[in-house]
Amino acid sequence: MSDVRIVGTGISIPQKILSNADLEKVVDTSDEWIRTRTGIAERRIAAPDVATSDMGYEASVRAMHDAGIVSEDIDAIIVATATPDYLFPSTACLIQSRLGAKRAFAFDISAGCTGFVYALKVGKAIIDAGNAEILLLVGAETMSRVTDYEDRTTCILFGDGAGAVVLAKSEIPGILSVSLGADGDGWQLLYMPGGGSRIPATEESVRERHHYLKMQGSNVFKEAVKAMESASIEAIRKADITPDEIDLFISHQANYRIMEAVRRRLDIPSEKVFMNVDRYGNTSSASVPIALEEAVRSGKIRRGDIILFSAFGAGFTWGAAVVRW
Ligand code: ACO
Repeated sequence: MSDVRIVGTGISIPQKILSNADLEKVVDTSDEWIRTRTGIAERRIAAPDVATSDMGYEASVRAMHDAGIVSEDIDAIIVATATPDYLFPSTACLIQSRLGAKRAFAFDISAGCTGFVYALKVGKAIIDAGNAEILLLVGAETMSRVTDYEDRTTCILFGDGAGAVVLAKSEIPGILSVSLGADGDGWQLLYMPGGGSRIPATEESVRERHHYLKMQGSNVFKEAVKAMESASIEAIRKADITPDEIDLFISHQANYRIMEAVRRRLDIPSEKVFMNVDRYGNTSSASVPIALEEAVRSGKIRRGDIILFSAFGAGFTWGAAVVRW
């Protein structure tokens, strides 16, 4: 079995900022409520002509540049997204076409906010099995397109963006462990009813606002804390390290209270937690790769550091990974 490392990162962040003050004008909420309940101050919104593959493409180009590779080097492209451009073809195929990555096979992963951690596991397995040497993993979301700006319980949370990494076969171990889980019994606590084969788009489905995300926030909150803690403990054990060896904890950026609760349960000091939820809100599967890139760029990660990723999302799905940089 070969070893696998992340050798490049890139992100794409929309220009437009939607602040808490902006949201105060459209729903009955307040900057104070949003900040204290979530830690979010603002989030980014994609321009009307920008879709998930556009941001995914831009993040990919930057990650490839960072890794020093060209399109022809890529063996496979995996895109984690809950907001694909189309139900089919996959967003991965759209990105493959724009990159001209002709040799690459390409597919999407649907695992809600955990999508990027799922992609990491699948990507590593593909390399471990000898089926590829260089992979592009993308987490990209246009959450604003499925967010109901008449629902104050959800519209304050979500934002748009993309992050990408280049994953490569390596002599040095990089992905030390990935632990995944799912519990489909929780599907109705966080889902989008319309647009699939169950409730296709009709005038009635639009009128009933079925094409927007629905979430029972406090139930999701409790499940997220429990699952991210247990997945993290399992990933730490599988990586054969102790929690105090973790240099940086990069959690899915859903809500600072969730991250804080998981951090406490894992007994990780607060200075080892990376947070940018205040600036981007919850960008679903893009949040972990965006946070990773910003942590690398800001010098918070040095070669040899041990990073813990952890995420939870619709499904329910959850996962954690231990990575040596
Ligand atoms: N502004 C003001 N008041 C509000 C708002 C708002 N934006 N939203 C809800 N409230 C009110 C509610 O109506 C409720 O009022 P009531 O007591 O009179 O009924 C009160 O605030 C408390 O509501 P709760 O839902 O209990 O608030 P909570 O503390 O749970 O915070 C939140 C809500 C922020 C959504 C939280 O539950 C949360 O972050 N949940 C997890 C979301 C998440 O992590 N998702 C991860 C996966 S996302 C994915 O996979 C796509």
